Amino acid sequence: MKDLFAKIYKDKGPLGKWASQAEGYFVFPKLEGEISNRMKFQGKDVITWSINDYLGLANHPEVRKVDAEAAAQYGSAYPMGARMMSGHTDLHEQLQNELAAFVGKEASYLLNFGYQGMVSTVDALVSKDDIIVYDVDSHACIIDGVRLHMGKRFTFKHNDIESLEKNLERATKMAEQTGGGILVISEGVFGMRGEQGKLKEIVALKKKFNFRLFVDDAHGFGTLGETGAGAGQEQGVQDEIDVYFATFAKSMASTGAFIAADKEIIDYLKYNLRSQMFAKSLQMQLVVGALKRLDMLRTMPELKQNLWKIVNALQSGLKERGFDIGTTQSCVTPVYLKGSIPEAMALVKDLRENHGIFCSIVVYPVIPKGLILLRMIPTASHTLQDVEETLEAFSAIRSRLEDGTYKRLSAKLMAAMGES
Ligand SMILES: Cc1ncc(COP(=O)(O)O)c(C=O)c1O
Repeated sequence: MKDLFAKIYKDKGPLGKWASQAEGYFVFPKLEGEISNRMKFQGKDVITWSINDYLGLANHPEVRKVDAEAAAQYGSAYPMGARMMSGHTDLHEQLQNELAAFVGKEASYLLNFGYQGMVSTVDALVSKDDIIVYDVDSHACIIDGVRLHMGKRFTFKHNDIESLEKNLERATKMAEQTGGGILVISEGVFGMRGEQGKLKEIVALKKKFNFRLFVDDAHGFGTLGETGAGAGQEQGVQDEIDVYFATFAKSMASTGAFIAADKEIIDYLKYNLRSQMFAKSLQMQLVVGALKRLDMLRTMPELKQNLWKIVNALQSGLKERGFDIGTTQSCVTPVYLKGSIPEAMALVKDLRENHGIFCSIVVYPVIPKGLILLRMIPTASHTLQDVEETLEAFSAIRSRLEDGTYKRLSAKLMAAMGES
């Protein structure tokens, strides 16, 4: 019989296999210093474009003060136990009420982590007779939630309403046999390429099909919509989203998450969400910190204005210089270049070492072979000077990519990786 670990010794997995070339630099890099537009990487100052601190709250002095006071008052233990047992407080309730009001829903419920909460919410919303129809490019937390589902599921092509309609037809036929219902899941903003989910078109299909809509709006919350209530508000269909989800890990620059819906749905979920029933309650310093951040989202529209000033300057500057930024409709700013993985590595090294620009790099298998995606997250704490320096650097690296400099530089890497 095989040793369970045999496969682990043999194969580190699709990303793990790059560890010896990539770790510490391209993956698991250590960004140091206070979270801001400029941090340190391996001792060098870099403009950071890879942190989801959209509104610049992570290191805002008012936020830091409230976080520190809450930590001093409550420590990191309080309250102990799951919400249902001994971990419930007035402040948890207050935060839920304020979050629900902010996103225009009757009620909300706190989740300890977005990922785990999404998995658990998908699980709690469906039973084996129900059918899930979800976007094929969904975030891992949606996919893992669907994995728990004992019944049928269909994917629709990414943001393709015709494909959704076809799959809703199949799902409807199936649901008529099983006696179940249909849950459609989309994201408000797809975090890799920045397109908004086609929520308006999805909602319009409710006239033809009977389904409920669950939206993961991790990147839309705080950044889109007139008051920052997210992609549903931006597209004028917030009321038609049956269950709304957002994490505190992005605009709120913290940890935790929430779901919001009609009161009756939240009342059901709070008795059926296994991730919350069987896990310690969100700690108080995070609850107090979230109340402060939410207050700032509500009362400081300039945060979102500053964010969009930077987003617009970066995206229009890139387009003016002829860069392909795909079809983003959000702050997420992808830049697509053509090149191999070793070329991409040489290019990112050049960007970091010689231009002081730090952004995330995405390559095959996440995107098609031969493409390099540099993914940038503008924030309210960036300046127009940061944008200008970055645009200059991007023009320089494009020239070097095109004149074969990175091909030459990466020859050694390519040999090491066995690519030609
Ligand atoms: C679309 C999406 N959903 C869910 C999550 C998970 O949220 P959390 O970091 O709070 O676990 C993320 C990443 O943070 C995300 O990008």
